[in-house]
Amino acid sequence: MTDPKADTFAAVDAEALEKQATTEIASAETLDELDAARVKYLGRKSELKLALRDVRDRETGMTLNALRERLETAVAEKQNQLETAELERVYAESAVDVTLPGERVARGRLHLLTQIKREIEDIFLGMGYEVFEGPEVVTAWQNFDALTTDRGHPSRSPNDTFYLTDDVLLRTHTSPDQIRLMESRQPPIYAIMPGRVYRRDTPDATHSPTFLQVEALVVDRGITLADLKGSVLHFFRQLFGPTREVRMRTSFFPFTEPSVEFDVTCFICDAQGCPVCKHSGWIEMGGAGWVDPQVFVNVGYDPEEWSGFAFGLGIERIAMLRHGLPDLRLFWENDVRVLEQF
Ligand code: PHE
Repeated sequence: MTDPKADTFAAVDAEALEKQATTEIASAETLDELDAARVKYLGRKSELKLALRDVRDRETGMTLNALRERLETAVAEKQNQLETAELERVYAESAVDVTLPGERVARGRLHLLTQIKREIEDIFLGMGYEVFEGPEVVTAWQNFDALTTDRGHPSRSPNDTFYLTDDVLLRTHTSPDQIRLMESRQPPIYAIMPGRVYRRDTPDATHSPTFLQVEALVVDRGITLADLKGSVLHFFRQLFGPTREVRMRTSFFPFTEPSVEFDVTCFICDAQGCPVCKHSGWIEMGGAGWVDPQVFVNVGYDPEEWSGFAFGLGIERIAMLRHGLPDLRLFWENDVRVLEQF
């Protein structure tokens, strides 16, 4: 007994079906397309599965089973191929090519002003001084009164000083650190006090509402003005070279008596005369003086017992002179083309 349907299928359709199915499986470009082809030719309702279910004779059964196996193999192979291609694509996107030259990592560096500040600290540490840093917000007592800068002094005007309240302000110099230090302990004191100060100035090439100073204070028994000159000279020779000389000119500060300003021989032209020293051979470096006895009284020291000196200088000025920088604003605009040079 033969089933005409099964016979017909096996004889006529198996070959055409295989051709069509293999072509479709082979041309699948994605796993979804392949799965659609698999369902169509090998799924429960596919022509082949239906024929297999109804098959009657052994030979047709064997033919159809062999066809099913070939198609299953074709699907599995294609699936393998598509999956490998997908993996390769992902690898290619994410892979590291170890033969490529590395990317240069940009290294940061200390700001020029920080470098100079540390250089100054090192020189003074070498002389046995300690480094003391006070706050930028201080009282009017610390910034002015204790430094015998009276109510009428022009630097106390709100036009020159940033007041937070009537009695609290942004320090206009590092000298209030002298007061804090002396109020907090007894002599002897050998200290420098670097820090940021504020003045109500409109920024231009030589003015800034904020800049850096270094204060130095020495209080001990039997200190003389020669000690001041010797310390400043040693400092400048360390900073600007062993042949530098220092000179002092009389000046005035409310908290020192006598007061001086000191100059150093020009380290650009070796005192031969150049535009930086305006052909004088000398460069102005800062203010200094003998601590006024009244300042000692204000902090509770006995002026009969103790004497000392103080001086202050600007850090930006040192940096500008040393590197020929024309404009104060370069320091805080933070243009990397400038910063990278130091
Ligand atoms: N504080 C003074 C200024 O800012 C400098 C100075 C410091 C003068 C110490 C004398 C003693 O101009």
